[in-house]
Amino acid sequence: DAAEKGGYEHFMFKEIMEQPQALRRAILPRIREGEVCFEDFGLSQDYVRAMSKVYIVACGSSYHVGMVGKYVLERLTRRPVEVALASEFRYMDPIVDGSTLVVVISQSGETLDTMAALREAKRLGAKVLSIVNVVGSSIARESDEVLYTWAGPEIAVATTKGYSTQLAVLDLLALWFARVLGTVAPEEYHTILDEMTRLPDKMERVLAERDSIQYFASHWFNHNSIFFMGRNLDYALGLEGSLKLKEISYIHSEAYASGELKHGTISLVEEGTLVVALGTYDRLFEKAMSNVVEVKARGADVLALTTESHSGEMEKTADGVMTIPDTHELLLPSLGVVPLQLFAYYVALMRGCDIDKPRNLAKSVTVE
Ligand code: G6P
Repeated sequence: DAAEKGGYEHFMFKEIMEQPQALRRAILPRIREGEVCFEDFGLSQDYVRAMSKVYIVACGSSYHVGMVGKYVLERLTRRPVEVALASEFRYMDPIVDGSTLVVVISQSGETLDTMAALREAKRLGAKVLSIVNVVGSSIARESDEVLYTWAGPEIAVATTKGYSTQLAVLDLLALWFARVLGTVAPEEYHTILDEMTRLPDKMERVLAERDSIQYFASHWFNHNSIFFMGRNLDYALGLEGSLKLKEISYIHSEAYASGELKHGTISLVEEGTLVVALGTYDRLFEKAMSNVVEVKARGADVLALTTESHSGEMEKTADGVMTIPDTHELLLPSLGVVPLQLFAYYVALMRGCDIDKPRNLAKSVTVE
């Protein structure tokens, strides 16, 4: 058992630690001579040029990858992207036709709602491209095109390397679309691609700092309610940080777009409430800081997440700061998710939870 877990106490921790290697497998073979190159799929450039919109459909953490992906795809391709929960998609009479690309994301490739959404998308005439980890799974078999994430088997119920490899593949897809459509400047395209090849090493640096995250967890593991807040990509990242924490530690946790705080949530912030403030996005850093000040003024404890270039400033106000290396802004969630996974893990560990098999949850949900 210990050997299977690579000497670690839990599969979740092993899988967190495997992420740099998993990213290398997902990314490096798909970059050739400085260009994104998908040998494993057959979407033509003509198809991409005629594509009117992209619909991303998934459940759980895979849906959160879609939420990040929407920002990345829209920013790079200037095509509209909608993200839907697979369990809702079938019942929303979605506006989908032959010029819509439906991107289905699923680690297991067996989630029933996602499968049903895939079939509905095909019935409506869309092409379906899936991003899947398990080779030969039902969703992979029924899709028109498949991009595998090559993360290796994921055993812990709470996904970690599944999430990060899905995100990397979606980023590569966005870059490839943008190159075909001519909607990204060549310098930016090459910068992002270069940065993608550096992600695994940068992620190793984040993992090497795990003791500081464990320290923060020891400080706050007793809280019963935690809020995550951020804007734009940091908001999408907060959704995943919050889900990870609640699913394994059983702490009530919610993620908000920071600007929405004052429309309700701020009434729940009181002396000692923990707010995890995500402020990795350079362009919105000042706004992130002002939200930190706002919740601090109401007595909140703030655990912040930011980049090396902003950690000094953040440390002046926040009670704790988790730091990630700087990278291209669109790739920040790939690094930012790691401290949030580690925080959830250590909090659950300190609360004595069954980390790999949380109550009431299944690794793959094959019922509606
Ligand atoms: C379950 C798992 C989650 C996962 C979700 C979607 O709820 O516990 O970790 O994100 O299913 O799974 P999929 O395999 O479709 O990505």
